[in-house]
Amino acid sequence: MAEPRFRAPRGTRDILPPESDRRRDLVTRFAEIVGRAGYSEISTPIFEDLGVFLRIGESTDVVTKEMYDFRDKSDPPQHLALRPELTAAICRAFVEHRPTVPWKVWCEGPQFRYEKPQAGRYRQFAQVDLEVIGTDDPHADVEVIAVAQQFYQSLGLVDFRLAINSLGDHESRPGYMAALLNHLEAHRGDLSEQSLATMAKNPLRVLDSKRPEDQKIVASAPVMADHLGGAAAAHFTALCDGLSALGIEYEVSPRLVRGLDYYTRTTFEFASDALEGSQNAIGGGGRYDRLVEDLGGPPTPGIGFALGVDRILLACDAEAVFPADPDRIDVFVVDVTDQTAALAVCAELRRAGIGADRSFGGRSMKAQMKLADRSGARFAAIIGPDEAAAGTVTLRDLRGGDQDRQREIPRDDIVAEMTRILPTTPTTDQPRLS
Ligand code: HAM
Repeated sequence: MAEPRFRAPRGTRDILPPESDRRRDLVTRFAEIVGRAGYSEISTPIFEDLGVFLRIGESTDVVTKEMYDFRDKSDPPQHLALRPELTAAICRAFVEHRPTVPWKVWCEGPQFRYEKPQAGRYRQFAQVDLEVIGTDDPHADVEVIAVAQQFYQSLGLVDFRLAINSLGDHESRPGYMAALLNHLEAHRGDLSEQSLATMAKNPLRVLDSKRPEDQKIVASAPVMADHLGGAAAAHFTALCDGLSALGIEYEVSPRLVRGLDYYTRTTFEFASDALEGSQNAIGGGGRYDRLVEDLGGPPTPGIGFALGVDRILLACDAEAVFPADPDRIDVFVVDVTDQTAALAVCAELRRAGIGADRSFGGRSMKAQMKLADRSGARFAAIIGPDEAAAGTVTLRDLRGGDQDRQREIPRDDIVAEMTRILPTTPTTDQPRLS
């Protein structure tokens, strides 16, 4: 086969069936779980004013190196960016619409970061995201973590860990920053070039450095936990108590600062032990008590998370759970007459909520049976000249579960018969308004 002239851009992928179906199922599962916890779906644009995303922080890679920003064709041109994450966009929407608080919302879709592509790290990747805006009750922190954990577990994942930390509040942060800066200054000569640059913008993010030369300095750095003031410490204790009350295991990770600048107080991350170290974060989040204000809104606390859909599916593969569901088609209609019967029978079955498919192009019986097998359907409904003359359909059990593997039924009984045999599926017919 000739090399294709165009390929999906580096760091992006085509998601084909059945993987595409599995992703849709994953998002549906997420929607069900968070819907039952009182979260409603919102949808924000794929691109925003660049300024929205600059709030993620000028010392973060997301802003300095990875932004897909561009000027559009308006006069004067607007400086826009493809969204690298959803939190800043959702806060922008909050400020614009001022909904009643707490605003419990979720969102899903593609994000864009100009990263170095590798397994589990893409330039276009999908997230499911959840936010609670307008409360700083630590039980909100517990709730979002519990919902994420419930979602992972619902997929069958077990091989993952939760790490939590507090980055302090406006009272405790300055004292800690001074101590941290002192420590980093004392080791200035040994720090990597990159960490020196990061230190000038946000010393906290030096703790996130993975560079070997920084490791010793990071390991001996003062930790926020020793500097938490009364209120921030009480908030963190309430979070820990809440998690314990729900039986959720966690480890306190004093150097968990995460890759975005807007975090205050709670931060957390879920890591899968089934995935390779540097791409093992399957989700993370935290509080952003100043972000809404930074975007021009009233002082409003918030907390949320984003879970990486691509990585979760890799973790599911590694743990051999949440396989693609092949059972979308119940009946494959094989019609070797003029195929009008296939048209009508498929339509009737589909209207009754039964998955039905057929072949096109008037193919031979053998070719149609092959397609029926490949479709994953449990039954073939065969209509040949004899059946057409007798007004019947021959039902063949393709998986051999039915005792009489093949039997003839009246053509008009097919919907009733399939409804009787197949597990219940909801009808897709919409109720009429009048
Ligand atoms: P984040 O840690 O940047 O947080 O991303 C969340 C998750 O998205 C990661 O844990 C990972 O699973 C996935 N992810 C990130 N980058 C990539 C990539 N290049 N390829 C594949 N997957 C990736 C946020 O985005 C915050 N907005 C989370 C949040 C919500 N904080 C508060 N509310």
